[in-house]
Amino acid sequence: MCGIVGYLGTRDAYPIIIEGLKRLEYRGYDSAGIALFDGTDLKVSKTKGKVADLEKKSEAEITTHGCVGIGHTRWATHGVPNDVNSHPHVSNSGELVIIHNGIIENYDSLKQELTSRGYTFKSDTDTEVLINLIEYVKKTEGVKLGKAVQIALNQVIGAYAIAVFDKNKPEEVVVAKLGSPLAIGIGKDEDEFFIASDASPFIEYTKNAVYLEDEEMAVIRFHKGIKVRKIKDDSLVDTYVQELQINLEQIEKGGYEHFMLKEIHEQPKAIQDTYRGRLLRNEAIIKMAGIEDNMKKFLNANRIIVVACGTSWHAGLVAEYIFEDLARIPVEVEYASEFRYRNPVITENDVLIAISQSGETADTLAAIKLAKSKGAFVFGVCNVVGSSIARESHAGAYTHAGPEIGVASTKAFTTQITVLTLIALRLARAKGTISSSDFRQHLLELEMIPGKVEQALKSDDLIKNIANIYKDAKNMLYLGRGFNFPVALEGALKLKEISYIHAEGYPAAEMKHGPIALIDENMPVIVIATKKGHYEKVVSNIQEIKSRKGKIIGIVTEGDVQVRQLADHVIEVPESLEALSPLLTTIPLQLLSYHIAVMLGKNVDQPRNLAKSVTVE
Ligand code: AGP
Repeated sequence: MCGIVGYLGTRDAYPIIIEGLKRLEYRGYDSAGIALFDGTDLKVSKTKGKVADLEKKSEAEITTHGCVGIGHTRWATHGVPNDVNSHPHVSNSGELVIIHNGIIENYDSLKQELTSRGYTFKSDTDTEVLINLIEYVKKTEGVKLGKAVQIALNQVIGAYAIAVFDKNKPEEVVVAKLGSPLAIGIGKDEDEFFIASDASPFIEYTKNAVYLEDEEMAVIRFHKGIKVRKIKDDSLVDTYVQELQINLEQIEKGGYEHFMLKEIHEQPKAIQDTYRGRLLRNEAIIKMAGIEDNMKKFLNANRIIVVACGTSWHAGLVAEYIFEDLARIPVEVEYASEFRYRNPVITENDVLIAISQSGETADTLAAIKLAKSKGAFVFGVCNVVGSSIARESHAGAYTHAGPEIGVASTKAFTTQITVLTLIALRLARAKGTISSSDFRQHLLELEMIPGKVEQALKSDDLIKNIANIYKDAKNMLYLGRGFNFPVALEGALKLKEISYIHAEGYPAAEMKHGPIALIDENMPVIVIATKKGHYEKVVSNIQEIKSRKGKIIGIVTEGDVQVRQLADHVIEVPESLEALSPLLTTIPLQLLSYHIAVMLGKNVDQPRNLAKSVTVE
């Protein structure tokens, strides 16, 4: 839930770390810090607040730089966000320094033990306990830093991605991983190394990276390379150097005011990238290696269980409608956080689809491990290539959305739905639950979606006006039916997380069982009322709202007449097959929440209390 960056090489480490932290700020942004060895001594600067605050503070505090350093951007787990609790943390002797992403669950008992041996602590963090444990082991056992880290980590319960160095031996950095991601970028001729939670801080320097697996650690030595070992049994691991596919442009704002807006506008291309090479319309086939290789598992499955969190869970709900409708396979959609703890019945005949943009969400990862332990086949749908969930799954399909930096998921959602639709269609074809002409029709319509999303994006000015009218609302209700019920949930989540306006998503027909009591002239109600989705029934629901004086914003099909007569505002989206309509109806809802949040002066890309990937429970 935090971002870590490190550098060891021949360049000035300071700007590399500060710029790297800016790119990782989506992972956590309540405090930040940096530690450098300047050739003589250890220099540490840290502060509550954003990386920009750190930059200002550290420019004054660190006047001499060096070629080794580590930095951290934090999302607090232990200890409130303040200067002292910020990372890096230095050991009692002042020699060792650490950055940490994760949680040390048994930190309290370790702290008591260290306290009894004379150690003192400045912060309330678990991380300060860990660095002092490493120091204690190093001193009492008389071992090198790498060994001390290994011994200490074998006493730790929890999750971590750490980077540690010793100011007396600054040509070496030790890193380790369990549960939180850690990538090592390798410079040409192994003369420099980069450490980061993801590859974005170093992609302009190198495209070669090693991703540590869980329970692995690496000792990185200047000019001598990397040695990766298993933390538990000390065995050496062969390193696999991966060539990165992302480039710098993909992670910059490209002229947009916010990443979220950029990512909303990237959706036509992202959706196209998702089906490119998989949807072969002329041949009337869908080709996905992960499905073809495991077709029997899917066809023999008793049911599909989808696990995910947040927006990815909403994509899973859309998938439930699509899979059941097209492929006639029973689907259950579960919050990963509930599933993992509720003793679910899982058999070898279950297929579990785990959906995750980041591929690092702790609850989803734990749900996968549980399902695997019961013999289920696990299929991952992730965006981040090489992420923990992608690696933990038996097979999977990437969404190919490109990096999503804005904390509010947008293109991740639509590309997840695209991949899941492709899978449902492929299975439907294999099972014979879809006719050849219907199948061709879906392929054709899916290929037309990027153009239709472009069309939907053209309502931006209209949506801005609507946002201006309702930006001061205290509550909003989002209604949808069928395939568009999950879109209503997603619309409400988008508004909540970036504008902090309370919003509820509901199945439109369920409104009369309670939420209708909320409706009065102050309640804006966003109703998804596209032509093919139980249109007449939704029109009746709109009438119920109107007669209670609610303000109606209808998301309608181009050319709609009926809802236009009833609603206060309508936003049109192009017509499409009902199963594909969520890919279009979600666009105005993303823009509406974006504009409201901007008008309210909120930090759209980094909303309060949130982080992009939730790698803790
Ligand atoms: C949605 O806008 C949020 N960013 C959040 O709900 C997110 O979808 C959730 O945390 C799951 O993340 P994942 O897709 O990376 O697993």
